[in-house]
Amino acid sequence: MLNAEPISIAILLTTLYNQVEMFDSLINKLKVEIRMSRAKKYKTIMSKDLALPHFEHAKKCTSAFSRKLEENSFIDKKVEEYKQNGFCEIWTEEQSKLADKISSKVLDWDKEGKYFKDGIINIDSEIYNSIPEIEVLIKDSFSEFLQKSFNSEYKVFFSQIIKTEFNNSGPRGSQLWHQDGGPGSAINALFYLRDIDKDGGAIELIPWKDSLKIYKKVISNLSLYRLLRKRSAKEQTRSKKVELYEKEINPFYSQYVHQPTGKSGLLVPFFNNVIHRGGFPKSPDKPRFVLLFYFYPSDKKTPFEKYRKEGFPKKSSYPKDPNF
Ligand SMILES: [Fe+2]
Repeated sequence: MLNAEPISIAILLTTLYNQVEMFDSLINKLKVEIRMSRAKKYKTIMSKDLALPHFEHAKKCTSAFSRKLEENSFIDKKVEEYKQNGFCEIWTEEQSKLADKISSKVLDWDKEGKYFKDGIINIDSEIYNSIPEIEVLIKDSFSEFLQKSFNSEYKVFFSQIIKTEFNNSGPRGSQLWHQDGGPGSAINALFYLRDIDKDGGAIELIPWKDSLKIYKKVISNLSLYRLLRKRSAKEQTRSKKVELYEKEINPFYSQYVHQPTGKSGLLVPFFNNVIHRGGFPKSPDKPRFVLLFYFYPSDKKTPFEKYRKEGFPKKSSYPKDPNF
């Protein structure tokens, strides 16, 4: 009799615990389905209230777009590839010449200790005007690809020159698998200022359809679901996510990882929400220099005059208002 009481309490607690587990798992399954249908529709892992204004705005930009674009088999194929996989790679002689001009300037600045802060130069008006090749890239080299991909005019939210060096402590931050989590209407683009190979820290990308499958596995994890509910566990959530991405990608998706390499001037546009990692050079004598852009659809022509006066508008990780 004396021992029966603790045993029955233990059984009761176990039953209760199992029921909570079952309930949690059921709720998470429902949430996963909702999040997956949202991710497919809006091409982002953002919540609906954040994703929808960008989605609607992109449609509005397309209806306002009256320009007739000529057929161009080279670019048209790239646009198709981009839409299909969530990324593509574009290289031309012209882009390479522009990259070489930009990199010679940037390497001088780096030697002189000018402009770079923690390996980054934000493109404010001074930098924009000091490197006129940036405007040539946006205005001429990338315009057809951007207009055809957005099916609208385009604008820049954010651009940076990034220098990444070998680091003894191993990859960190965006050098680990992640999704940017910005609006699905955004196009991220990396423009390599120097030749890039696998050891030089070339970006690695997972096709959109596989990114979705991996994302589903990651958000189905019950301990991640519990961490996501705790607002105070941001760092823990982030490292749990990285752990889950790796657990999924290393054994099952390695063969689908794409790593574009090539000569200076290589442009790699990719969906903001494909799973990717990049920028970890494996050799100390080979830092990586890239120009990073976040492009967005627009219902007006690209405001180059404004860029000359103010640089690019970024004030947060993505624009809250698609009309920025
Ligand atoms: Fe990223």
